[in-house]
Amino acid sequence: MESPFKADILKGKVALVTGGGSGIGLEISTQFGRHGAAVAIMGRRRQVLDAAVAALRSEGIRAIGLEGDVRKQEDAARVLEETTTHFGKLDILVNGAAGNFLVSPEDLSPNGFRTVIDIDSVGTFTMCHEALKHLKKGGRGEGPSTGGLILNISATLHYTAAWYQIHASAAKAAVDSITRSLALEWGTDYDIRVNGIAPGPIGDTPGMRKLAPGEMQSKSREYRPLYKLGERWDIAMAALYLASDAGKYINGTTMVVDGGLWLSHPRHIGKEEVKKLSKVVEMKSRKSPVAFPASKL
Ligand code: COA
Repeated sequence: MESPFKADILKGKVALVTGGGSGIGLEISTQFGRHGAAVAIMGRRRQVLDAAVAALRSEGIRAIGLEGDVRKQEDAARVLEETTTHFGKLDILVNGAAGNFLVSPEDLSPNGFRTVIDIDSVGTFTMCHEALKHLKKGGRGEGPSTGGLILNISATLHYTAAWYQIHASAAKAAVDSITRSLALEWGTDYDIRVNGIAPGPIGDTPGMRKLAPGEMQSKSREYRPLYKLGERWDIAMAALYLASDAGKYINGTTMVVDGGLWLSHPRHIGKEEVKKLSKVVEMKSRKSPVAFPASKL
């Protein structure tokens, strides 16, 4: 789908995207590249990175793939150095790397819980921590938005509660908290904006294949507000908006991009039924002199 944004809104910017080799991370990298940014993608698998970089370069996007695990502080520091050495600076860090799997709490070992917290929460903090000195220098491009930007990919799991994802829910709650704390402190001290995006179920992603096999996806359709899965494009457009000058006053927000799904519940009474039912209840209450005296109606 074509982008509604001008092709140069990220001209001259340099972005590092963790988990940028596939799924939502790759789409963000692609759209950032198509809108003028140079992109470094970080991931654990060389083959995945190579394929992603080849795809980006085939579109004329300046891209490099850097191997590393966000759980390792030395990998984070090295990848950030390599990014700024190669492209000269860093303006935008996108924390897209995440781990998740479906499991009931009683079957999840503390180490399994810790593993996801390590990737999502500690990994996000580690990348931000190591990126600070680069972002302080970078982000001084053209246009009104002068500081650097951090974008944390979150989720809506923890807004209520999500079955079989106690680990990822806790991890993303911490990510949102990190987003707000850094927005306050680094926004004030270094002019760095820190925001998040909480995607709903996005089709054609490794996360979706893992967390909602085909049958489950069609089951939830009947009560989903927009009656469809999101696309990777939807998330990348939100990222572009937040990264562009249009988002220059947005700091500390996690933007939900899920078609309203997190608000939804199965409908417990049909529309026609509710019309009849509410009339009956209304009539009854009008007749009741104690609760609603007729003179007051
Ligand atoms: N059910 C229950 N426990 C599981 C599990 C599952 N499906 N998958 C892993 N675990 C547990 C392991 O048993 C282990 O705990 P233990 O030592 O007590 O047995 C712990 O989690 C670590 O597993 P391990 O396979 O060693 O971790 P890893 O570092 O190789 O992989 C994961 C990390 C598990 C998060 C892996 O799924 C991953 O790399 N994911 C990245 C991609 C991804 O999830 N994308 C979707 C994002 S929405």
